[in-house]
Amino acid sequence: MKLIESDLKPQFAPMFDVEHIRADFPILKLQVNDRPLVYLDNAASSQMPQPVIDRLVRYQATQHANINRGVHYLSETATAEYEDSRRKLQYFINAREDREVIFTSGTTDAINLVMHGYGRKFIGGGDEIILTTLEHHSNIVPWQMLAEEKGAKIRVVPINDAGELLVDEYEKLFNERTKFVGVLHVSNALGTVNPIKSMIEFAHKRGVPVLIDGAQAVPHMKVDVQDLDCDFYAFSGHKLCGPTGIGILYGKAELLERMQPFKGGGDMILSVTFEKTTYNTIPHKFEAGTPPIAAAIGLGAAVDYLLGIGMDAIAAHELDLLNYATEQIRHLPGVRIIGTAPVKTAVLSFEVKGVHPHDIGTLLNQEGVAVRTGHHCVQPVMLRLKVPATTRASFAFYNTMAEVDTFITGLRTVQKVFT
Ligand code: ALA
Repeated sequence: MKLIESDLKPQFAPMFDVEHIRADFPILKLQVNDRPLVYLDNAASSQMPQPVIDRLVRYQATQHANINRGVHYLSETATAEYEDSRRKLQYFINAREDREVIFTSGTTDAINLVMHGYGRKFIGGGDEIILTTLEHHSNIVPWQMLAEEKGAKIRVVPINDAGELLVDEYEKLFNERTKFVGVLHVSNALGTVNPIKSMIEFAHKRGVPVLIDGAQAVPHMKVDVQDLDCDFYAFSGHKLCGPTGIGILYGKAELLERMQPFKGGGDMILSVTFEKTTYNTIPHKFEAGTPPIAAAIGLGAAVDYLLGIGMDAIAAHELDLLNYATEQIRHLPGVRIIGTAPVKTAVLSFEVKGVHPHDIGTLLNQEGVAVRTGHHCVQPVMLRLKVPATTRASFAFYNTMAEVDTFITGLRTVQKVFT
């Protein structure tokens, strides 16, 4: 076939059109307190677009049965869709193999899986685990439980006043007893993006495996687990425009194979007698019982949706939002930004002189603006930065500059009420 000139022109992805994108999200049409909803609590949970809602409905209406158990049409269909979703997630994070992608109930469950499956088997008395001050409680408490059980020790990477990890101090924490590193990719409270690639490389030179808590990274940037060379990478579906109750643990196959199962039950076995049980191959060894099938399939649809927009386009729009909001908030007297690292995702934590964060959140809610207030499940960060709590606006790709304006106007109103 002869090509005409237009066939030879490069095909560009459609321009990022935020209004077009917003039309996909039914919840964004809500009125709250007679004002249009301005949803700035995306770090806690993001909203779901219509194609993901439709996918969940189609699954429930036409494809649902239990998986891996039946030879009938519906069971085979549901199993195929569930495994297809696993492959979508594999592609999304560029895992080498689909068996390296384990469905969990979320980031917390994924981290607990690593603690029980890897930690309880390979970390012993006197061993040391390196975590950072920035960690979410979900990447602290499981390791404290392990340390208590085994007599292991937790060592903590400090941060500076901007909320950045002190990498020199990280490197100094290593010694011959170091057996594990857990670090978050992006801080949920401050937005700091950590230099995890070089941190992983440093740990690997000393033979130490690294778990990355990626809950706040995967919704906002391209993540490539092979490029990072992390050993484990955990994230949640509900921050990724997917359903709650579903998450992912990526693990290198050779590590997952050596680990012990976390939960026992159906589907994670090859054979069971009262004398001896043999375990299934990965990933099934870690997926005991009936999994959240619909949620797993919904998560597959969510990553399809995000890839349709493009993670680079998402990151670029969110950076614009962050820069615009940061610039505006800087001009408000008595407002201090908490977390000023040069490389951040679109998270803006702050305090307003003389006003408790809960009062800020309550008054903003009256304007239809949803933000999170409190310690954000990172009490060590609050302690280190000497703030009891912050107000946090966290942006997603469907937010607009006009919403930033509404948020800033709301803050001015808060200040008027309290002066
Ligand atoms: N970890 C979530 C947040 O930062 C819930 O809000």
